Amino acid sequence: MQDIIPAPVDFDAGAVFSGSPSGRIVRGYENPGPHTPVPESDYVFHEASRDVVVWFMAEAEPLYVFGPTGSGKTSLVKQLAARLNYPVFEITGHARLEFPDLVGHLTVRGGTMAFEYGPLALAMKQGGLFLLNEIDLLEPATAAGLNGILDGSPLCIPENGGELVAPHPMFRFVATANTNGGSDETGLYQGTLRQNLALLDRFWLCELGYPAPEAEQRLLESAAPQLPEDVRSRMVDYANEIRRLFLGESGSEGQALEVTFSTRTLLRWARLAVRFQPLALQGVQPLAYALDRALGFKATRESRAALHEIAQRVFPQATGD
Ligand SMILES: Nc1ncnc2c1ncn2[C@@H]1O[C@H](COP(=O)(O)OP(=O)(O)OP(=O)(O)O)[C@@H](O)[C@H]1O
Ligand SMILES: [Mg+2]
Repeated sequence: MQDIIPAPVDFDAGAVFSGSPSGRIVRGYENPGPHTPVPESDYVFHEASRDVVVWFMAEAEPLYVFGPTGSGKTSLVKQLAARLNYPVFEITGHARLEFPDLVGHLTVRGGTMAFEYGPLALAMKQGGLFLLNEIDLLEPATAAGLNGILDGSPLCIPENGGELVAPHPMFRFVATANTNGGSDETGLYQGTLRQNLALLDRFWLCELGYPAPEAEQRLLESAAPQLPEDVRSRMVDYANEIRRLFLGESGSEGQALEVTFSTRTLLRWARLAVRFQPLALQGVQPLAYALDRALGFKATRESRAALHEIAQRVFPQATGD
């Protein structure tokens, strides 16, 4: 079957990403295709996403986005792609992932052997965005096998009769990871591997930390509008306090924590707090109850006690016992 590849179109970057025209051009497609992510209307494009937007507007060099877990790396790339009607072909790295998982493999279809393309080959053929999540979990030798593709070379598929797939001019490559590929300074991202320097040298790098407080407040407003504004704002303050303690920048308690508050956890906490609201009638504090289910149960008993102590200080009425 012949793939129908839609024609690219130029968008005004400002109009697409912030709603006001900027005169700067970004390329995408006129209509979404079957592989275009669904746009989330309440997705918040905050300051920290600027680098990735600029990358989308620039030459098609590969991009490596790194940052702590749950900071929004994968979703940012997909939501930006959604606004540009870009097809996204996604895969998540792991230690046993091999090149054929990216390129494709022979399979039996209707009694005959047929080649099934993998996400990398499809993105290269169809002018899509190849999103390789957790690239730092790959075996460095496997990842280094991508060097030619990252340089813009065609992909050779020996299993498919030596087919040569030339990169479509709209093909883009994005990797995400929790480390910068050099080392895991925190020791928390088990399984990450130091990657080959020649591989890393081919990427444009971008660090995506947790969003600024105003941005996280906007996130909570759309995720849990039922919570009072004051509570939402204290939740963000609380998350930032926990992040500081996690990094060892001790606050008044002086206790370092081994768990931290990702944006993912913060959103989960807010949604659970809404869901457990009826417990208030039974004398249970929904915020404290939701906190354990969002994060506390992952911590040691000592840290969990510290999490609640800090919560009592940040939310004197809401969590007091
Ligand atoms: N700006 C945002 N607007 C709306 N939701 C967001 C935003 N940033 C993050 N989220 C939500 O937070 C969750 C975590 O985001 P995501 O999966 O993109 O993080 P990640 O950085 O890729 O994490 P990991 O390193 O664990 O893969 C998702 O549910 C996502 O929708
Ligand atoms: Mg991710």
